[in-house]
Formats: sequence, C-alpha cells, structure tokens
Amino acid sequence: MIKRLFVVFSVLVVASLLLTACGGGAAAQKEVKIAILAPLSGAVPTFGVSTRDGSLLAIDEWNAKGGVLGMKIVPVVADSQCEADPAVNAANKVIDQDQVGYIIGEVCSKASIPLSEVVNAKNVVQISPTSTNSSVTLNADGSVKPYTFRACFIDPFQGTVGAKFAMNDLQAKTAFVLFDQGNDYVRGLAEAFEAAFTEAGGEIVGKETYTSQDTDFSAILAKVSEAKPDVVYLPDYYNIVNLAMAQAKEKGITAPFIGGDGWDSSDLDRAAADGGYFTNHYSEQDTRPIVQSWLKTYGEKYKDAEGKAIVPDALATLAYDATNLMIAAIEKAGANDPVKVKDALAGLKWEGVSGTITFDANHNPIKSAVILQVKDGKVTYVTTVAP
Ligand code: PHE
Repeated sequence: MIKRLFVVFSVLVVASLLLTACGGGAAAQKEVKIAILAPLSGAVPTFGVSTRDGSLLAIDEWNAKGGVLGMKIVPVVADSQCEADPAVNAANKVIDQDQVGYIIGEVCSKASIPLSEVVNAKNVVQISPTSTNSSVTLNADGSVKPYTFRACFIDPFQGTVGAKFAMNDLQAKTAFVLFDQGNDYVRGLAEAFEAAFTEAGGEIVGKETYTSQDTDFSAILAKVSEAKPDVVYLPDYYNIVNLAMAQAKEKGITAPFIGGDGWDSSDLDRAAADGGYFTNHYSEQDTRPIVQSWLKTYGEKYKDAEGKAIVPDALATLAYDATNLMIAAIEKAGANDPVKVKDALAGLKWEGVSGTITFDANHNPIKSAVILQVKDGKVTYVTTVAP
C-alpha cells in the first residue's frame, strides 16, 4: 500500500516537473483573459452591475477548479455604457492593449451591433449575454457573423410571445405601441410585436415614437388616452418605463402596459409599473434545482448594503451562462485560440441556468421566455412560453 502510494506520488512529482518545465517555455500560457463589456455607467447601470457580477462569478468558479486548460482566467472589465461609441472604444482597448481574445458583451443591442463589427474584423470571439436584436449576429445580407454569438433568445420570438399573451391571456383586441426609433432593441421589438399582433387578428390603434432624451411623455400619452387601447406596448429599458408609466398613471390610463426584458431591473419603479407585464429570460421563482442553487451561490457572494443576499436578475444569470459557455468552448477547443474557440462554440451544448443552450445556424440559442407581472411592489412569475 505504502509502496503503491509512493509510486503514485513519484508519478505526480515527475508529471508536475514536466509541466513546470513546459511552463518555463516561451510559448506556454499561464493565463487567458476574458473581457466583460457592460454598461456600468450611463442610462441603465443596473444592467452593467448585474452583468459584471454574474460573469465574474463564473470566472471565479472555474479558477477555483484550476482555471481552463491549466490557465488562470483573468477578467478585464470595461464600461461600455449601452452606447455604440463607448462600446467600440472599449472593445478596441481590450483587444489592442490588453490582448483579449474573448468578449462577454454588450448588454444592449445598439452597443452589441457596432461591437460585433470590431470583433469580426479582429477575430475575437463575442458572446452577448442579453442582446436580443436579430442584427447582433447577422450581417445586412443575412449571413452569420462568424465570431458573434449570444446566450439569449431573439426579439422576433420575444415580440410574438408578448403579442400572443396580450391576445390570449389579456383578451386584447387593440394595442397602442410606444417606441424609441433610435434604439435598435426597442424598434425591433415594437416591430415584432406589431407584426405578430396584427397577424393574429389584432388591431394596432396607434403608434408613437419618442427619443431616449425625452422626459415628458404627455403628448403621446394623450393620444393613448384618446385611442383607448386594450393594451399599451412599451418595449424600452427601465429608465424610460419608470418615467412613461408614472406619467400614464397620472393621466388615468388604466390599460395594462406590456414590455420586454428591458424592464428587468432592481431599479424598475414597481409602483409606476404596477399592473404591467413583461417578457423575460428567467424567473428566480423557477423551481428547477439549477436555478435554486444559482440563487444560493449568487446570494452568498453578493450582498446589498444591509447584508441581505442579492437575488440575481436575468442579466446576471445570462452573463453567468454566457461566461460559462465561453470558457467551456475554450476547454473544448483545447487551445487559447479564438479561431478554434468560435468553432467549438458553434457546436457546444451547455446546461445553463437560463436553460439548455445550443446554437442554431445564426448563432442564436433556442430558448423559452417567461412572462412576469408587476403587482403590489413585486415582480411575479406568470407563465413560461416555449418557442
Ligand atoms: N435585450 C436588451 C437589448 O437587446 C437588453 C436587456 C436584456 C435588458 C435583458 C434587460 C434584460 O438591448
């Protein structure tokens, strides 16, 4: 027995000596960098904080198990502000200066689309955890961008889920659509909702636009009051939703508002948004064991100012899934080489917290959506809709 142990021990010593010897070589890599590009400042900072924290947690877990392919994973966090230029600048910085070959980001479609141009020109792998606009992974001619993937469903699906919910569950026959023409995500989702709603026999009784700079929505809300729609579709981020829905309540508009994943924030004004519904990627009320253990792990690591466990939102969850996907693809590729990692990623199957992820030809996972309701200060799970 003792002899056997000694043999095992000697083998280990020799193996580790060999590894150290290789490690001393010029070509050996001790670490692999992964950049996280997220809106830590700007209009939607809760998106950035959640994304960063979800991603860092995945990296910590891999490092605790020895990293990937023997390399330590080093995160490089950059603030991309949910805007095109800051996202492009952050991408150029992490690629050119930090020599990063892998990017998790951005959150917002209008930042992820220009970011995808940079990564595909520079052969860097991108996984957007949460950007849902179709154009994130597709070129204008419909071809797929080889280095860009996402961990979430896309807006043609999300808009259809919202429209069907309005018609089938809320018995809506008419809808009014409010949207920001200058935001790829908001415009795309509004179009998808309208197409699905009319195709199913509903009528769009009004459509009004605003800009991301607007703070006074009274003129367009007056039109909503006049049109008396059964539902109002407002697929924007929480900052706009907070303003517009508070003003709608003041105006006495009682038709339920419906939105998309952009409503998901700890800073959503739950009083203003009361009675509203939104489509999302995940609910913490999901009873699957993988979700429950995720809540526990996240809550143990991240606490609020009073020391209370923070409940991960969809952004944190998808950032965690996207980061795990990236690292699993590096492992599967067997090399710290973005060219090989993008190929490994295309064929990967990953059991994520937000669902099982495999990519279709357009680098989109096929996943279910959940519908959540804002009621009495809480966000409550209503139902799950499969593709
Ligand atoms: N889907 C949004 C976009 O593409 C981003 C988002 C995802 C926001 C999930 C909140 C939650 O811009």
